[in-house]
Amino acid sequence: MTSTKPIIQARGLKRSFHEAGRELHVLRGVDLSLNRGEWLSILGRSGSGKSTLLHLLGGLDRPTRGTVVFDDTDIFTLRGAKLDRYRNRHAGFVFQFYHLLPELSALENVLIGSMLGRDSLSRSITGLVTAGLIDLLEWLSRRKEAQKTAIEMLDRVGLGDRLTHRPAKLSGGERQRVAIARALVNRPSVLLADEPTGNLDADTASSILDLFRSLHNDGQTIAMVTHDQTVADAGDRVVTLVKGKLTAD
Ligand SMILES: Nc1ncnc2c1ncn2[C@@H]1O[C@H](COP(=O)(O)OP(=O)(O)O)[C@@H](O)[C@H]1O
Ligand SMILES: [Mg+2]
Repeated sequence: MTSTKPIIQARGLKRSFHEAGRELHVLRGVDLSLNRGEWLSILGRSGSGKSTLLHLLGGLDRPTRGTVVFDDTDIFTLRGAKLDRYRNRHAGFVFQFYHLLPELSALENVLIGSMLGRDSLSRSITGLVTAGLIDLLEWLSRRKEAQKTAIEMLDRVGLGDRLTHRPAKLSGGERQRVAIARALVNRPSVLLADEPTGNLDADTASSILDLFRSLHNDGQTIAMVTHDQTVADAGDRVVTLVKGKLTAD
């Protein structure tokens, strides 16, 4: 065991939903540590609360009770835009259904991730309208740099020759690769993946897991949620969500 602090430490996480006059206790006290460089799989049946948990770990949702310390920051002490900014810089999300913008090319979809992580798009545009030439040049140079990183990321996921393709012209596996490039573009400390192979055939799923393995070998910390034991086994460590609590396998 190393003595380095976990990159994510969740304590006593509870999340309930009010639905049709009833309270649904989905997470009932989850403690979880994710170590730097680790690939953790969170396994659980459909409806067991996996997505709910992953959203809390990355600050996409707030818990009813409990804390998440992410990269030394107690993230739920942050509110609104501050939390958004923190999340966009530190966490990269990948979803089962990709969540790409259909009107944009692969490259533009990845650039969206980069814009979210730096400054809000609207602020950059406002900056452009009101700023002098120096600000304008600065903005353009940042854009260029962002574009270079986005291309690097698409190369990294094997799509260097698909930069101008729109999602409709990509296969499912390729769409997920674009989504992974978007998640990685701000070099997040943690990649949070919610059933990333859930919509793919077996061969394509295994090629996405190969990509995760390669990212992991390069040092990327990963938390991945799945209902599939075989997929979960690709990670270093598996924890299982049962009745709102985690058990180690
Ligand atoms: N926003 C919400 N409002 C009400 N119920 C919700 C909400 N989000 C999730 N749930 C319920 O919480 C349970 C767990 O959901 P989820 O985390 O999506 O499970 P999983 O990802 O493991 O399939 C489900 O029963 C679901 O219906
Ligand atoms: Mg889910």
